[in-house]
Amino acid sequence: MGYVIATANMKGGVGKTTITVNLATCLAKNHGKRVLVLDLDTQISATLSLMSPLEFAKRRKNRRTFRYLIDEVINPESNSTQTIKDIIQEQVCGLPGLNLLPGDIDLYDEFVVSEMLHKQTLAFGEQNFEIIWNRFERVLINNILKPIRDEYDFILLDCAPGYNLLTRSALAASDFYILPAKPEPLSVVGIQLLERRIGQLKDSHEHEAKIDIKMLGIVFSMSTANLLSGRYYKQVMHRVVEDFGVEKICKAQIPVDINVAKAVDSFMPAVLNAPQSAGSKAFVQLTQELLQKL
Ligand SMILES: Nc1ncnc2c1ncn2[C@@H]1O[C@H](COP(=O)(O)OP(=O)(O)OP(=O)(O)O)[C@@H](O)[C@H]1O
Ligand SMILES: [Mg+2]
Repeated sequence: MGYVIATANMKGGVGKTTITVNLATCLAKNHGKRVLVLDLDTQISATLSLMSPLEFAKRRKNRRTFRYLIDEVINPESNSTQTIKDIIQEQVCGLPGLNLLPGDIDLYDEFVVSEMLHKQTLAFGEQNFEIIWNRFERVLINNILKPIRDEYDFILLDCAPGYNLLTRSALAASDFYILPAKPEPLSVVGIQLLERRIGQLKDSHEHEAKIDIKMLGIVFSMSTANLLSGRYYKQVMHRVVEDFGVEKICKAQIPVDINVAKAVDSFMPAVLNAPQSAGSKAFVQLTQELLQKL
């Protein structure tokens, strides 16, 4: 069985999506792995990093996005006949082994989820709403991925910032999580908040099947090397080392590199579009390091 790995931080804009798509590409391109990227964010940044907006619009029109897999679970009236295999786009960016389960700008309606779970609670009689909700969270993404889990060496889940239902469900379905962070205080607070939430998530599921997710590593992204920010950056890093231990911090750090940001314009990650850039080289190193950790 392969690994399911979530990329998460409560803080937005810290490099989660960029790391996810470049890591996925390196795993397929340099290591011959079979990789699936699942976009769990309604900003659809991972989707638009791997396919053009035109291609996405066509798929959306044909109901071939992740939204329709969620809809089948939460909406009893859904008459969708699409399977996960119909929805996965193979060989994105022309790269064998790199597949995408495209996200959507609309993924689920919280009211519909609550209503469906409330009805289930009534049907189960004495069981309380919290138990039903926790169980739903635990199985949602797990069940969706079940039919294809064995076909991949890696399934990477690109989470939205914050801590919504899909992030909790992604963490519950994952073997590991990667924590991207910028070397600045609020991004580090985002790590601490997520760590606390993951602790709570594990506690709330203790009585049922245990959630056994582990941190794979903290990846510092978008660090700049000039003298002033260098000193400041070291202070922030020192704090993270004190909190989490040096072994949790990935040695490979992703520098600020315009080639990384620009790659989105060509609908492919920097490691394909600008392989010689400093950012791309850092992603190659990061991939090797994470493979060694695993
Ligand atoms: N190494 C880098 N060098 C330059 N720009 C970068 C780098 N990494 C990411 N960016 C840019 O920074 C912005 C935020 O990155 P990204 O979307 O990966 O963060 P995120 O944590 O996924 O954000 P969100 O929380 O909104 O999902 C994007 O515009 C991206 O292109
Ligand atoms: Mg993102």
